[in-house]
Amino acid sequence: MNILLIGGGGREHAILRKLRENPTIEKIYALPGNGGFEEAECFPISAVDIPAQIAFAKEHAVDYVIVTPDDPLALGAVDAFEKEGFPCFGPNQAAARIEASKAFAKDLMKKYQIPTAAYEVFDDEEKAIAFVEEKGAPLVVKADGLALGKGVIIAFSEEEAKEAVHEMMSGHAFGKAGDRIIIEEYLEGPEVSILSFTDGETLIPMVSSMDHKRALDGDQGLNTGGMGTIAPNPYYTEAIAEESMKTIFLPTIRAMKEEGCPFKGCLYFSLMLTADGPKVIEYNSRFGDPETQVVLPLLESDLYTIMKATTDGTLKDTEVKFSDKAACCVVVASGGYPRSYPKGLPITMSEETKAHTYVAGAKKDENGQLLTSGGRVLGVTAVKDTLPEAVQEAYRLVEGVSFEGAFYRHDIGKRALEAEV
Ligand code: AMP
Ligand code: GLY
Repeated sequence: MNILLIGGGGREHAILRKLRENPTIEKIYALPGNGGFEEAECFPISAVDIPAQIAFAKEHAVDYVIVTPDDPLALGAVDAFEKEGFPCFGPNQAAARIEASKAFAKDLMKKYQIPTAAYEVFDDEEKAIAFVEEKGAPLVVKADGLALGKGVIIAFSEEEAKEAVHEMMSGHAFGKAGDRIIIEEYLEGPEVSILSFTDGETLIPMVSSMDHKRALDGDQGLNTGGMGTIAPNPYYTEAIAEESMKTIFLPTIRAMKEEGCPFKGCLYFSLMLTADGPKVIEYNSRFGDPETQVVLPLLESDLYTIMKATTDGTLKDTEVKFSDKAACCVVVASGGYPRSYPKGLPITMSEETKAHTYVAGAKKDENGQLLTSGGRVLGVTAVKDTLPEAVQEAYRLVEGVSFEGAFYRHDIGKRALEAEV
């Protein structure tokens, strides 16, 4: 069996390595993949060039397609592949709106009474400013469209909130993603990421995790795509898991079905555990990055079998089992990230570290030397019996990587370890 994987980050590397545990899979093609994907054949076709991907799939006798990044999902990659007869993992375009349009997601939650921050949607800058004046700070201002995780501003003063509204709506900072904005209530509490498998009817949550979004230690610095993760998340207790299933997960998949766009694939709930119970911060229509790099190493069941079950609608009868170990992933980034950073710097890695590394932003030169090519270059994941051991091991292993200007956070897992005692 041959698989086509669309994407080329650390998340896709974690998916790839898990798929490789299944001996019935022969070839895995990654478009575009990256220089660190030794488990796949990579071809330089962009993750958003859907016609080229379809032509590739036809030429290479592909049996199953996995679409993981948000952009191709929002562009309708799954619809396009299905139309050509390729079974796919991932939501179709209508279902992917749950991430691609924050206004769609917020309206869905309002209509189906799924707990989330109170909010208003604005297309008009003057009305948005008047709303800020009426409510006062703190407020959260969000661009409607996909803005690479940067379209969210938490404003602790009225001035900051007005500035954020103006910056987004004047069209300079976010382009079209900022034409429509959402202003919402500021929530407080620990954050939890829950990735789940769903076939549109049945939903099976994966092990919980915690991301660390800011660039620097102590949650300082700019927001990033994620600088490290741990799993499981100790704040996410059995009782909270049960409540989330009842008030958030099942109502969400029922709502999507009711709206005529049942969600298939990986639905990712970003939750805030507030004093009033768990609330949705946002939905993502895909695996999280770098959550996947701690969640999938804990999966004991076969990933391909589960993915195929979400496509076929047979998830109810499929085993999804996670180990009760713990995992920690430390992301190593290029100096300067998330602002501008140099590219093309040689990466050295010990053999031991390499076996625990998911490569995100790297290419190979003609001599086979791995060079940096992105902001988040790679993530080092350790799995151990307990969280303190996993954190310690990840930090030991990360010493085995080096490139000029490399940096990582030194406190991944710190907040989680504090919760455990
Ligand atoms: P998002 O891109 O929606 O995940 O938001 C990025 C980050 O902003 C989240 O991980 C939260 O830390 C924070 N955030 C988003 N919405 C809220 C909110 N309503 N209240 C407090 N923090 C928020
Ligand atoms: N780690 C956050 C995300 O994947 O959106």
